[in-house]
Formats: sequence, C-alpha cells, structure tokens
Amino acid sequence: MAISAFLYSYILVFSWIVGIYAAYEPTSRFRMQSVNQTCNVFFGRTNVHARKDGRGVNFSLDKLSGSGIVSKNKYYYGFFNGAIKLPAGFTSGVVVAYYLSNADAFPHNHDEMDIELLGHEKRGRWVLQTNIYGNGSVKTGREEKFHLWFDPTKGFHNFSILWNIHHVVFMVDDIPVREVVHDAAISSIYPSKPMSVYTTIWDGSEWATHGGKYPVDYKYAPFVASMRGIEMEGCVWNQKNHTHLLCSRRTLSSLDPVGGEQFAKLSSRQRAGMEWARRNHMFYSYCQDKKRYRVLPLECREK
Ligand SMILES: *[C@@H]1O[C@H](CO)[C@@H](O)[C@H](O)[C@H]1NC(C)=O
Ligand SMILES: *[C@@H]1O[C@H](CO)[C@@H](O)[C@H](O)[C@H]1NC(C)=O
Ligand SMILES: *[C@@H]1O[C@H](CO)[C@@H](O)[C@H](O)[C@H]1NC(C)=O
Repeated sequence: MAISAFLYSYILVFSWIVGIYAAYEPTSRFRMQSVNQTCNVFFGRTNVHARKDGRGVNFSLDKLSGSGIVSKNKYYYGFFNGAIKLPAGFTSGVVVAYYLSNADAFPHNHDEMDIELLGHEKRGRWVLQTNIYGNGSVKTGREEKFHLWFDPTKGFHNFSILWNIHHVVFMVDDIPVREVVHDAAISSIYPSKPMSVYTTIWDGSEWATHGGKYPVDYKYAPFVASMRGIEMEGCVWNQKNHTHLLCSRRTLSSLDPVGGEQFAKLSSRQRAGMEWARRNHMFYSYCQDKKRYRVLPLECREK
C-alpha cells in the first residue's frame, strides 16, 4: 500500500515535470490556427483540399500541376510551424517546401528562409534541406542537408522557423537543427523585411536530383502531402501603412511575440539537441564545401 502510494506520487511528480518541459517547447507556446482563416491558395487550386474543420490541408502534385498555399498576412519576425506528413513510396524529384519569402514585394532584394523536403528514389529516405537568403543574396546558396531520424511518411512531424532580431532557428519536432545568429558576419544578408509563409509541393526533377538524374515518376502520382498544426505568430505587416506593424501577442518583456528573453537564446537543452542533430544527421553544409566556395562566406570562417 505504502509503496504503491509512493509510486503513484512519483509518477505524478514525473509527469508534472515532463509537462513543464513540454510547455516550454516552442510549438506548444502558440495557438493552432485554421488554414481557411489564415491562408489562401497560392497555386494549383484543384490540388488543394482543406479539411472541413479548417485544421488541416492536403495538397498534391500530379502530372498537370503542383499546388500550394500562402498566408494572408505578411509577418515581420515570428514563430511559424506546420506539422507535415509526406507522401510515401517512390518520390524522387518531389519537393515539399515550407518557407517564408517576400520575393513578390521585393523582387530585387528579397529575403527568404526555407525548409525543403526532398523526395528520394529510395523509399522513406526524405532529405531535409534548409537555406536562407537576405537582401537578394541569391548568388550564395547557404544550404544544409540532413537525413531525418524518423520516417516522415508515417505520421505528422513539426517543422518550424523562429525569426527574431537575435537569430533564425530551424527546428524539427522542437529540436533545433540550425541556428543563424544575427551577428556582424551575416548582418548584410540577415532577413529584415516582412514575409509571407508558403507551403508548396512541386516537381523539382531538375533542381533536386542532380540535374534530372531521377525525375518524378508520374506512374506513382498523385503525390499527396498533408499539413496541420499551423502556427503563425508574429507582427503583422499592415500593407496600407508600411510603418505600422500589428503584433499579435505580447510576451512579458516585449511587444513582439518572439521578442522576449525566452526567444533570444537557445536553452542548454536546445543547444544539446542541436549538437546531437548536427553530429548525427547532417550530411552537407555549405560552410564545409570548399569546392563550391574557394572563399567561404564570412559567417563560416568564424566557427
Ligand atoms: C507537434 O507539436 C504539437 C504542439 O506542440 C504537439 O502536440 C505534437 O505532439 C508535436 N508532434 C511531434 C511529432 O512532435
Ligand atoms: C542590400 O544590398 C544592396 C546592394 O545590392 C546594398 O546597397 C544595401 O546596402 C544592402 N542592404 C543592407 C541592409 O545591407
Ligand atoms: C501609420 O502607422 C504609424 C504608426 O502606427 C502612425 O503613426 C501613422 O499615423 C500611420 N499613417 C497612416 C497614413 O495611417
């Protein structure tokens, strides 16, 4: 009796601690939003199917078209998440992209932050690629590539981007995989203008498979990706008054929902997670590509 009471309280305390930790994960800090209320179709209307309750959306690629959605708002700083499930089977050349961009508003000096999921000729081996551009830095690709540590076709996984004045952090299931610190080395290309949030599926045969080595095989179409768990929390750009930003939710220490101290630096737990992911799952970083960059970009040289 005494032992089971002890065990019981032990379990209570344990789940309380786990709960506290979980509550600090970035994805659990912000509310889920409805796709219908927050997004428009970007392209391929007939291949976009929102769930009736608005909580999720399927989008597909077939021989006629890819498809995608775009946020109604443009955001200046924020936290952005989508829980995504990828198509199974032979998916070589298929690209599912979750990204922020302002190329429509600033065609010559646009900013962009990309999470790109690249299909593969081997089943279940989707590759995660991240990239960042700022102020039109399109000549310099800053790609990093990872093998995922789970099968992304079996269930939904969170892909997130945090962007504030301190850093840009790319995360997978709340584990940071890349941090771009806003320091002097990167300041001229640090994303600095409001961006829309896009989710797309498209044929990247040429682009993603060594110049078309393994193109999309439409025998296996349609390729259907699903997204739910949509979170977009930041300062909304008023398109009529560019100097006026409407911040959706304040933190204690800031007007901007991701301006607070808890978003300024990675915690030691997050840093440990990032080191684990990069050590075990990263297989390409532009910072190590001396063939491509005889002179490495400035931010690579410091590390
Ligand atoms: C994704 O985030 C949501 C909200 O925090 C969470 O409920 C869900 O378990 C997460 N999914 C995974 C695979 O971590
Ligand atoms: C953006 O790039 C242009 C040249 O392409 C440069 O004149 C300008 O100073 C840059 N802006 C910033 C903030 O670095
Ligand atoms: C634009 O927003 C700024 C800051 O909120 C405000 O001071 C200004 O009056 C606004 N301008 C117009 C034309 O509404």
